[in-house]
Amino acid sequence: MKRRIWILYLIAVTAVAIVVVTAYSQENVKSVQDSAFKTKMRPGAVFLHDEHNEKAEIDDCGTCHHVYKDGVKVEDETSEDMECSECHKIIGDPVPLVAKYHLRCKGCHEEKKAGPVMCSECHVR
Ligand code: HEC
Ligand code: HEC
Ligand code: HEC
Ligand code: HEC
Repeated sequence: MKRRIWILYLIAVTAVAIVVVTAYSQENVKSVQDSAFKTKMRPGAVFLHDEHNEKAEIDDCGTCHHVYKDGVKVEDETSEDMECSECHKIIGDPVPLVAKYHLRCKGCHEEKKAGPVMCSECHVR
């Protein structure tokens, strides 16, 4: 009898752990830390993933996690399981990785006239 209770307890704990891990995996993104930047000149940029996208009202994940085919963005495909640097190389030709980040992040802030555009507002010490 005791043994059965113990097993039920273990199953319950595991189930809760799985729910917690899947529910919070994206919320854990608090800053952008692309692994391609080995020696960093700046601290990783502040980016509260879910909160940011909600406030900025970005519904399409492909705005950032995009997929291209023959130079054209594929509308209903996304690449959130990949780091930007898996496609955009550090010494990209003609546009290096750092410029891709700045184009995407700062570019939208400039366009919308909302969100930070100063270095120290994103790269917070
Ligand atoms: C404004 C840009 C942006 C938008 C919009 C966006 N993401 Fe992300 N997301 C990022 C960045 C930047 C990272 C972290 C760096 C990386 O993994 O390349 C990230 C990371 C992730 C990760 C990996 C989390 C981890 O723990 O490593 C997942 C999963 C993810 N995003 C899913 C989504 C989904 C689903 C949506 C749409 C609802 C979405 N993202 C919309 C920029 C964005
Ligand atoms: C699966 C590969 C892939 C991933 C992952 C990817 N990109 Fe791209 N991205 C491309 C391709 C292909 C193009 C089109 C050719 C080009 O402009 O380099 C592109 C274009 C761009 C452009 C210029 C065109 C535009 O839409 O304004 C920016 C900026 C950009 N990517 C930023 C990012 C950022 C930031 C991330 C990570 C959140 C990311 N990309 C992830 C493949 C990818
Ligand atoms: C498609 C447009 C868009 C893109 C792409 C985008 N942002 Fe934003 N961002 C916004 C808007 C709009 C706001 C202002 C939201 C508000 O406070 O109402 C904002 C606000 C912010 C803020 C202020 C704090 C906050 O969460 O509101 C930070 C930090 C930020 N963005 C970082 C980033 C980073 C880093 C990236 C690239 C990975 C990025 N943003 C990409 C539109 C965008
Ligand atoms: C809207 C937010 C934003 C602004 C404003 C911004 N950056 Fe960034 N920057 C990023 C993101 C996101 C990355 C990728 C972060 C990472 O993976 O470490 C990045 C990466 C970098 C990198 C490469 C990684 C490193 O630390 O060596 C440098 C250098 C950099 N930024 C310098 C600057 C400078 C200088 C300015 C001001 C002229 C600036 N950034 C403004 C978001 C921003």
